Amino acid sequence: MPARIIGTGSALPEKVVANQELEMLVDTTDEWIKSRTGIEKRHIAVTETTTSMSVEAARRAMKDAGVGAEEIDLIIVGTVSGDLCFPSTACQIQSAIQASNATAFDINAACAGFLFGLSIAEAYIKSGIITTALVVGAETLSKMMDWKDRSTCVLFGDGAGAAVVKGSDAGIMSMVQGSDGARGGALTCHNRAVNNPYVNNGFETDYTKMNGQEVYKFAVKTVPAAITKAMDKAGISADQVKYFLLHQANIRIIEAVAKKIGQSIEKFPTNLQECGNISAGSVPILLDFVNKEGKLERGDIIVLAGFGAGLTWGAAVLSW
Ligand code: COA
Repeated sequence: MPARIIGTGSALPEKVVANQELEMLVDTTDEWIKSRTGIEKRHIAVTETTTSMSVEAARRAMKDAGVGAEEIDLIIVGTVSGDLCFPSTACQIQSAIQASNATAFDINAACAGFLFGLSIAEAYIKSGIITTALVVGAETLSKMMDWKDRSTCVLFGDGAGAAVVKGSDAGIMSMVQGSDGARGGALTCHNRAVNNPYVNNGFETDYTKMNGQEVYKFAVKTVPAAITKAMDKAGISADQVKYFLLHQANIRIIEAVAKKIGQSIEKFPTNLQECGNISAGSVPILLDFVNKEGKLERGDIIVLAGFGAGLTWGAAVLSW
C-alpha cells in the first residue's frame, strides 16, 4: 500500500536573531551573509529543546492529520542534536504524546534525516508492517556551533518539523537515497570528549566544522542528479512537478539546482531567509509552511530533497 503524508506541523524557537545582531558577535556583515546565502535571520533556542520543539511539531501534525496518538505505530526522528544520548528523541516524543502503541527510534542522516526517516516509514507501510507513522526532523544546532567561527555560526538555526504518514491509495511515488562516507570530512562535529581513566588523548569537545566550497560543489552536483533519478523512477517529468522543496542551506544552491533541472525558481519555495539551515528540520518545516499557506491540493506532485553531512542525500516524489 502506498504511503501518503496526511498532516504536517512545525515549531520554531521564539527568539529571532537577525544578521545585524551577528555583526556584534563575529567579523561579518548582513550584506555578506545575505549575498552569499540568502539568510536574513534564524530562530535560536533559549528555553526550547530539540524534544520540546519536536513534541509541539508532532502535536500540530497529528491535529492537521486528524490522527490520535494511539493510532501511531512508528515514530522516527531525524536529528543530530538530540538533548540526550539516550533515551532517543523519538522515545521522549512517544512519552509526551502518549503514543503507547508506537515503536520509536532516532536516525542520524544529518540534513537528509527527514528524507531517510520518510523512506523507512514508507518501507514499513508498503510492506504492511504498520499503518501510520510520525516522521520528525528536529535540531538545536545552536548548541553545536562555535559562535566565534563566522564561517559556520551565521548559517544555521533551530526548529522542528513533523509529518504524519499513513497507508493510502496514493502518495509517495518514488524515493532515492545515497551516502558517500569517503567525503564525510567536509562537514563534521565531534561528539563528547572521551572521559575515562584509560584514555589521555587530549581530545576536547569541539564544534561544527565545514569545508563550505566542497559541500557546495557536492550539493549542486548530487541534488539535481538525485531529483532527476527520483522523477525518472516515478515516471514523471519536471514540468509536472508543482513545487520542489529543497533543504534550506543556501539560496545559491537552490538556484543552481533549479537551473540544472530547467525549472523556474518560482517552483522552489524557500524559508531560509527567516530560518537559516535547520539540518533535518529544514524540509519538514518548509513543507508545513507551504501546506499551511494552502498552496497544496490533493493530487499535486511535489519533490522533496535533502542533503548534508555524511555525506548523505535523499529525494522523494510524491502525490499530495
Ligand atoms: N562573514 C564575512 N566573511 C566571511 C564569512 C562571514 N560570515 N564567512 C567566511 N567569510 C570569508 C572567508 O574567511 C573568506 O575570506 P578570505 O577570502 O579572506 O579567506 C571569504 O569570506 C570567502 O570565503 P569562502 O568560504 O570562499 O566563501 P564562499 O563564497 O564559498 O561562501 C559558503 C561560503 C559557506 C556560504 C558557501 O561555501 C556555501 O554555501 N557552501 C555550502 C554550505 C552548506 O550549504 N552547508 C550545509 C550543507 S547541509
